[in-house]
Amino acid sequence: MKGNDAGTKRSGKYSARLLISALATVGALLLVALMCFWGCFLYKKFGKTDSQSLAVDVGGGASVVMFHADFHYSSKDVIKKLETLNDEHIIGSGGFGTVYKLAMDDGNVFALKRIVKTNEGLDRFFERELEILGSIKHRYLVNLRGYCNSPSSKLLIYDYLPGGSLDDALHEFGIAEKAEQLDWDARLNILMGAAKGLAYLHHDCSPRIIHRDIKSSNILLDGNLEARVSDFGLAKLLEDEESHITTIVAGTFGYLAPEYMQSGRATERTDVFSFGVLMLEVLSGKRPTDSSFIEKGLNIVGWLNFLVAENRQREIVDPHCEGMREESLDTLLAIAIQCVSSNPEDRPTMHRVVQVLESEVMTPCPSDFYDSSSD
Ligand SMILES: Nc1ncnc2c1ncn2[C@@H]1O[C@H](COP(=O)(O)OP(=O)(O)OP(=O)(O)O)[C@@H](O)[C@H]1O
Ligand SMILES: [Mg+2]
Repeated sequence: MKGNDAGTKRSGKYSARLLISALATVGALLLVALMCFWGCFLYKKFGKTDSQSLAVDVGGGASVVMFHADFHYSSKDVIKKLETLNDEHIIGSGGFGTVYKLAMDDGNVFALKRIVKTNEGLDRFFERELEILGSIKHRYLVNLRGYCNSPSSKLLIYDYLPGGSLDDALHEFGIAEKAEQLDWDARLNILMGAAKGLAYLHHDCSPRIIHRDIKSSNILLDGNLEARVSDFGLAKLLEDEESHITTIVAGTFGYLAPEYMQSGRATERTDVFSFGVLMLEVLSGKRPTDSSFIEKGLNIVGWLNFLVAENRQREIVDPHCEGMREESLDTLLAIAIQCVSSNPEDRPTMHRVVQVLESEVMTPCPSDFYDSSSD
């Protein structure tokens, strides 16, 4: 009996030790997990914000260059504002970097594009090119107001467009909201504005500019759903940089003319092809690489060609688009078909596109030129 008692006591002690060491292990694991969690929390709260904050970029001798007299803020005021920008002010991001909303104390709002730094700050060439882009003003182009000459990054100041991008309006909103906002006339008007902006770049401004990255996320909308072409000239300016390569990969599938993909040489006609794709996107409400085409081994142009071969091209129209007029649809389709022709010679100029669209859109505008005093 005694032997049994001793055995029971020993096994009791053994179980107690086992329990204590198990509890200690669980406790230690919990502590480690807690520390990891705390570490992540601290990183999220401070580490990440610090890395995204613009205070670092504009510290140490940055200055602001303004292109227009109507951007009347002092360099000091702008830099002070830039220092306050962080993740909370981000309104979008793309192949070139991050876009922030920059609200000045007097109520004016701008969009700040922070371009991922891949070489040393802003060099003379870059500054000269920006000055050219900043000198271009047109009713249907997004104004480049100035830039911040920061040693560590490229900060471009644009007009803020409250309607966001056409890409978001077409693809990110719910069906009801889209139907309400983007009826037939609204879509025509957006295409009209985008065509006029691009035609101005191709034919009327000096030097003439090939956009190179026409797509729905580069068509921004103002409060009245008027289109403005954004990011013109940027693709060329940043073409040797990593950021542009990202844009090409991410942004151009479905928009690029076949000869541009082969040769890498952009021309006005490669822009016209992209504009034709944009027209099809606006009419159909589908992205150029929508999964319904990809499943059939096509993109939006291939799909159009398939429908044309069967004389069913009217089926391309978004069923959620209200107020469609068939007579203007036929003309629009005819011009879109020409724009996306695989032979660049068969594509119309943007001037021609504007002429044809103008005969469809019955609200001609007295002056399309940007009036800075109305700003
Ligand atoms: N001037 C602006 N006003 C209002 N929103 C803007 C402005 N510029 C950009 N945005 C928003 O930020 C988003 C990202 O713009 P960004 O130009 O960086 O990328 P993207 O157009 O998608 O691609 P890419 O870098 O090839 O131009 C846009 O889709 C738009 O929603
Ligand atoms: Mg863009």
